[in-house]
Amino acid sequence: MHGETNDGPLQVAVIVGSTRDGRFGPVVADWLLGHLNARGDMKGDLVDLAETPLPTVFPAFGRPAPEGTGELLAAVSPRLEAADAFVIVTPEYNHSFPAALKNAIDWHNQQWHAKPVGFVSYGGLSGGLRAVEQLRPVLAELHAVTVRNTVSFHSYGDKFGADGKPTDPAADTAATSLLDQLAWWAHALRDAKRVRPYAA
Ligand SMILES: Cc1cc2nc3c(=O)[nH]c(=O)nc-3n(C[C@H](O)[C@H](O)[C@H](O)COP(=O)(O)O)c2cc1C
Repeated sequence: MHGETNDGPLQVAVIVGSTRDGRFGPVVADWLLGHLNARGDMKGDLVDLAETPLPTVFPAFGRPAPEGTGELLAAVSPRLEAADAFVIVTPEYNHSFPAALKNAIDWHNQQWHAKPVGFVSYGGLSGGLRAVEQLRPVLAELHAVTVRNTVSFHSYGDKFGADGKPTDPAADTAATSLLDQLAWWAHALRDAKRVRPYAA
């Protein structure tokens, strides 16, 4: 069901962009989901691209996708479709974002339209900010609205305690700001689409 027909809590798909064995991404995503689900106005759905891999070979235009593709997409596409908003949790790989994340973005189109996207990033000195700034134009092409505030963890290995939570409370403050902005956009766009369906 399209999120815009629903008056309940905002459905937020939290996408884990790294698929590497031994990755740190789920620690960051679980912390963010904890924040999100503690609010009364949002409900999170963790979309872990390592658990729902998508093919990297695309069908020719107008041709059916190879056998098995439909089943793989069925684990991801309806969840992106149902989302009112997204949070992308991404590391920085070679000054950009991971290929698996781009692949998941490229498999979809209208699922992104007129929906807000927030970012939580992590990495070395840059905290994944280059990955985030490269995601913004990609998502603009897909009619998504990216939220200004981000949460970023530079030298992330030092930033989380054994309990999987950031040790600096400033991260929690930043997560609240990000989710507040995401909620504003998600409500505004959900309400607007009800009155005036988005025509791409
Ligand atoms: C292929 C690759 C490229 C990387 N490139 C960068 C980089 O450009 N900048 C950076 O800060 N960290 C870089 N790193 C370090 C990652 O930020 C760090 O390994 C992080 O843990 C990756 O996220 P993950 O554990 O969820 O996969 C890179 C790591 C990998 C595997």
